[in-house]
Amino acid sequence: MEDFETIECDVLVVGAGGAGLRAAIAASEYGAKVALVSKSLLGKAHTVMAEGGVAAALGNVDERDNWKIHFRDTIRGSKNLANWEMAKIHAEKAPDRVRELERWGAVFDRTEEGKISQRNFGGHRYPRLAHVGDRTGLEIIRTLQDYAVHMENIEVFMECTVSDILKSDNRTVGALAYYRSSGKLVVFEAGSVILATGGIGKAYRITSNSWEYTGDGHALAYLAGADLIDMEFVQFHPTGMVWPPSVKGTLVTEGVRGDGGILVNSEGERFMFNYIPDVFAAETAKSEEEANSWLKGEEGAMRPPELLTRDVVARAIMTEVKEGRGSPHGGAFLDIASRQSPDYIRRKLPSMYHQFKELATLDITKEPMEVGPTTHYMMGGIKVEANTAASTIPGLYAAGEAAAGMHGANRLGGNSLSDLLVFGKIAGQCAANYAQENSKVSPHGKEIKKSIENTLEPFEDGDENPYQIHQELQEIMESHAGIVRTGEELEKGIRKLEKLEKRLPEMYAKGERKYNPGWHLCLDLHNMIITSLALSRAALERTESRGAHTRLDYPDYDDELGKVNMIVRPGPGGMSVVKSPLLKMPTELNDYVLKEVV
Ligand code: FUM
Repeated sequence: MEDFETIECDVLVVGAGGAGLRAAIAASEYGAKVALVSKSLLGKAHTVMAEGGVAAALGNVDERDNWKIHFRDTIRGSKNLANWEMAKIHAEKAPDRVRELERWGAVFDRTEEGKISQRNFGGHRYPRLAHVGDRTGLEIIRTLQDYAVHMENIEVFMECTVSDILKSDNRTVGALAYYRSSGKLVVFEAGSVILATGGIGKAYRITSNSWEYTGDGHALAYLAGADLIDMEFVQFHPTGMVWPPSVKGTLVTEGVRGDGGILVNSEGERFMFNYIPDVFAAETAKSEEEANSWLKGEEGAMRPPELLTRDVVARAIMTEVKEGRGSPHGGAFLDIASRQSPDYIRRKLPSMYHQFKELATLDITKEPMEVGPTTHYMMGGIKVEANTAASTIPGLYAAGEAAAGMHGANRLGGNSLSDLLVFGKIAGQCAANYAQENSKVSPHGKEIKKSIENTLEPFEDGDENPYQIHQELQEIMESHAGIVRTGEELEKGIRKLEKLEKRLPEMYAKGERKYNPGWHLCLDLHNMIITSLALSRAALERTESRGAHTRLDYPDYDDELGKVNMIVRPGPGGMSVVKSPLLKMPTELNDYVLKEVV
């Protein structure tokens, strides 16, 4: 068998973005010896792409806010599919997690009284997003990183990718990984494992995600036998850059709209007034005049339609483009210049100012931006228990974007950062507790050998170029499982994915194991194909339109499907999709969600 290094730990955390870091801190505080593995460099994670803020009902800017309204907004935003227990824990605990970050040194923007400032965001009833200009995710990850690296029992393994979860008698006992720079192999023997690997954006061509986001955690969990949930729901953030082509998909924060930015079509029309769904009608401005009174901060003003939930805004932009009213490069105009002063824009949206100046030679204090939908976030992922973050496999936990249940059919902006803080902490504590209560089992030599063979398989002969397969995969996902779907297109897409899957064993990696991106991509592609198939098959089963999942052949809600989550499950016969009834919400909370809150 090939040589490998062995590292022993109590808790292995796979992924070192916000969720992984918060989990590692919690496990370490619990007394566990933690191995924190980062596919990339520490601090470089999609967490930084949550730019506009972290959602928490602190009530600093509007004291009417409280956890219950945050809970209601989250459930409504999820189109009633969210796991209510997760949504409740999240809304209750988010303020504590934000204040904790402040104690750990995060430098939030301030109100005039010196409290943490909060801005408006889509679907949140009150200004709720604690922020640091438009660099909130970056500040959060820096704070967590600084805290974690000063803890004695967290060891960080950078540029190290986990390729397999190791199990013994159905219990998780560690993982096999490889160092990207040297190609050397490492076996982590762990009491428990937390998957915090983020999303799957690189399965699509237009995305705000960077190269790391290839569905690793989703696929590792699935291959280990765990259930996935809500895989049909992919969030297309309404505002990514559309021009120039080299930066297409780069995120334009919702903070632009939160701070008053408006969306306009090629005819100069503020089109979002035409797309207000009934459920938000009571709290959304229906005219320019009503929206302007909100911008002026007038008492009782209704929120502008640009702050409807992301699924609604993304579809509206797409419709405008399809009906011939798009901007020159196939998007819509996002205008903040006519709403806020240049000084305000540069202070509150510094990254956007520089991003457009440097990448598109455009001054957003003077001109509108061109924006369009971009694949941003995976609502679906590893099914976890609300109170423990445990997956359906003993000893395997998940947090952050790789986990699912919190956001149902649509996530509210800013709820990703609070989700990863709240459930990262819970995952860390519970995984450490599990490792403490269950005596350690070493992985079997036979299983390690099999894992190593699979990991090195791309070095065997083959005639398929992984870059070609990746390009084909992205085209399939864009055209068959994108922002709007039909049964026919999904079926065609699934057939194409199945053909791609058959070609995977023929992929080859040339050269040696020292930094070899071709080899890495071969392994990533296995993960992307599993997640893409899970997504497309779940999407085919959901014969209705709900949240981020729009079926042109089933344009309405289906009441029966509104009572179930789709579970994707591995089995002896292959991948299956089964319907699972929603967790029943207590009547008191259910009545509250249905009530209008003004
Ligand atoms: O638009 C944004 O700043 C993204 C935030 C998020 O995805 O939570």
